[in-house]
Amino acid sequence: MIDPSSISALMRWYLDAGVDETIGDVPLDRFRQAERPEEAPARAGIPPARPEPAQPEPARRAAPPAAPAERVPSAPPASPTLPGQVDDLSSRLARIETLDGLREALLAFEGCPLKSTATNTVFADGNPAARVMIVGEAPGAEEDRQGLPFVGASGQLLDRMLATIGLDRGSVYITNVLFWRPPGNRTPTPAEVAACLPFVERHIELVDPAILVLLGTASVKTLLGRTEGIIKLRGRWLEYTTPRMSRPIPTLPSFHPAYLLRSPGQKRASWMDLLALRDRLASLNEAPGNGDLAESSTVI
Ligand code: URA
Repeated sequence: MIDPSSISALMRWYLDAGVDETIGDVPLDRFRQAERPEEAPARAGIPPARPEPAQPEPARRAAPPAAPAERVPSAPPASPTLPGQVDDLSSRLARIETLDGLREALLAFEGCPLKSTATNTVFADGNPAARVMIVGEAPGAEEDRQGLPFVGASGQLLDRMLATIGLDRGSVYITNVLFWRPPGNRTPTPAEVAACLPFVERHIELVDPAILVLLGTASVKTLLGRTEGIIKLRGRWLEYTTPRMSRPIPTLPSFHPAYLLRSPGQKRASWMDLLALRDRLASLNEAPGNGDLAESSTVI
């Protein structure tokens, strides 16, 4: 009989090590799988390793019997980061004219290794016709479970923040610079960010919002290429553009709500950013027929 306290001690140890999610029922030894992919157990939602192209029979027979087995990568090669490959992907995505088409292309995309450890692809939430598009960093555990961005604790704070200026998921469109959760919420690698970037750029082009709000350092660095930290850039109106856009989009960097949960003293600065967003929207609202904004006294 296993002592329940040793199980909970083990669980605590896993959590401390950053393992906060079970992604399969059967343990998977990725070192052995790398050598013998055919032995990997099938796991729901995780694509099997890409099969090796079939060898012509004669070539296989000609192989010396004692030759060591070639190591087969356990996941598809995942670096469309060479400039030519990114350009190629970008120009293929440029031919996609709808968000549904872009989502389908993303679901078929195997160029980011994060996809193989994630439960869901997290594409977007909210109203694609909204004038405000919000771009965060990466899905967390709850977003990965539900397949929607900003539905965990930081998403709930974001909802409360938006409510203070009369916005909700019907009047904003929300996505991230990464479409898959990095395991244990680790910082994404530059290659993972680069793999997703052509999709994010096309995403923004297709939504074509009046205002872009970038939450946190990762989205600001990725989309604006700025080296300054978020403390310096937040609250400043900047511009985002791509070569295919007819006009730059006014862009407001602000603190990530996860940071605000850890540093509530920064909520005041975020409140200033929300007011700046509200004022900018109000100036757009001066055109008749726009009703995104309502008075609100919600406390965040
Ligand atoms: N943090 C993000 O940046 N995005 C999410 O979707 C959730 C948490």
